Amino acid sequence: MAESTNGRMEKLVSLCKRRGFIFQSSEIYGGINGFWDYGPLGVELKRNIKNAWWEDVVRKRDDMVGLDCAIIMNPKVWEASGHVAGFTDPLADCKKCKARFRADKIFSVTARDGENVLLQAGVEADDEAHARAAATAAANSKTRRRLEQHAEAMVWEVCRGDRLPDGVAARCPLCGGELTDARKFNMMFKTFVGAMEDSSAVAYLRPETAQGIFANYSNVLDTSRLKLPFGIAQIGKAFRNEINPRNYTFRSREFEQMEIEFFCRPDEADKWYEYWRDARFQWYVGLGLRSDRLRLRDHEPDELAHYANACADIEYEFPFGICELEGVANRTDFDLTQHQKFSGKDMAYFDDESKERFLPYVIEPSGGVDRAALALLCEAYCEDEAPDEKGNPQPRTLMKLHPRIAPIKAAVFPLVKKDGMPAIARKIYEDLRGAGLSAFYDEKGAVGRRYRRQDEAGTPFCITVDGQTLQDRTVTVRDRDTLRQERIADDEVLPYVRERVG
Ligand code: GAP
Repeated sequence: MAESTNGRMEKLVSLCKRRGFIFQSSEIYGGINGFWDYGPLGVELKRNIKNAWWEDVVRKRDDMVGLDCAIIMNPKVWEASGHVAGFTDPLADCKKCKARFRADKIFSVTARDGENVLLQAGVEADDEAHARAAATAAANSKTRRRLEQHAEAMVWEVCRGDRLPDGVAARCPLCGGELTDARKFNMMFKTFVGAMEDSSAVAYLRPETAQGIFANYSNVLDTSRLKLPFGIAQIGKAFRNEINPRNYTFRSREFEQMEIEFFCRPDEADKWYEYWRDARFQWYVGLGLRSDRLRLRDHEPDELAHYANACADIEYEFPFGICELEGVANRTDFDLTQHQKFSGKDMAYFDDESKERFLPYVIEPSGGVDRAALALLCEAYCEDEAPDEKGNPQPRTLMKLHPRIAPIKAAVFPLVKKDGMPAIARKIYEDLRGAGLSAFYDEKGAVGRRYRRQDEAGTPFCITVDGQTLQDRTVTVRDRDTLRQERIADDEVLPYVRERVG
């Protein structure tokens, strides 16, 4: 089972490279761990995800405004937020092979099937049965449940506070060597502002976009006519010096976030928390993630961050495990209180009607663009059979991307490069592009091969101009997923595609 999911991931990674979705950053120099580049198709996919988010959470709402903050801010922001003191991971090194691990994530497991979970490493045990028993004893109920739910988990995340049973020692998952004691490691990337490289010039690349919103909360309030409840939304890069970047783009060192800070009265915070938790879950379903691969997992009280009084993760069943796509948290008035304290600026909200002054509570839906893109790519990857020109079934790979996020919405082909077909096809192609729909024109090679290329790119519609077009001005529209072909008038192509893209 583990093999087949690894295989599936390998095939997806290979397709993403082959077709120009995702490349390793600076690949010609051997790459750099935790950094990725998005190629021509990938950048369109990401842009479509961000546009969909912006349309749905900002433009379509009258209680939300957008913001675009600098990546580097006054370092006091990160003192106030707690990131300077607390944005740390426990780090342990293997004394033997020198590999570095997060000390709370050093237990590697694979699974044979749903029930037969074998602890492979990290626990000294004589045999499988002993290892499994030790694993079970060491896990609390939450960890065990997650492990059981997803039998192919590659890394078993031991929760904070878990203790291994007596006589069981943590060991290097790679070579079994002894590990150093855990040390704290701050994940913020440091840089220097200006010519001096001393402590007075230290600044950080933001590890989240959220703090830029809190730092601008008063600016936005003073310059807009917003009243509670309202939200501020931002999309932007974030940087974390992850100890162990892994699972393709899932845990990267540079990534993009889409974050909302939704300010509300404290007595309405529970209601808005539930609203956003459910709305954000449905958003992913609407973009094509199958709801049975999506989970909404409420955090246990012992899992909550120090600033939150409620939190839920929207998780997706990736081929490598069930992992977080987005977190929705009730951050209370923690951040505004902190920034008020550290900046000395009054952040209280004055309610005209009740004449009260108070610090609003904040509900934060915080998602990752790269994780959404990866989930959508995993969901879309599909293999089936399609008939070739002679009607013989041939294996094909297709990306069943939702038309709203597909990088190319329609490809237009003349069946042959003569009899005026290219001119008609070009006109359809230009009309689509002129209407703001990304389209692709291709007149080279057998039409079956052209279809295959578009299937791999995730293009939902292929439009072919053929002999009949010359007689009655109709073209065929081929549906990527069903392979169904229908004839429509050439001037109907634009409304046809536009309606389906949504
Ligand atoms: N402001 C709250 C916050 O940043 P988070 O859970 O640390 O919360 C929010 O991050 C989202 O950002 C995650 O759900 C994930 O989608 C994305 N994210 C976080 N770390 C990431 C990483 N190393 N690589 C890719 N995406 C990441």
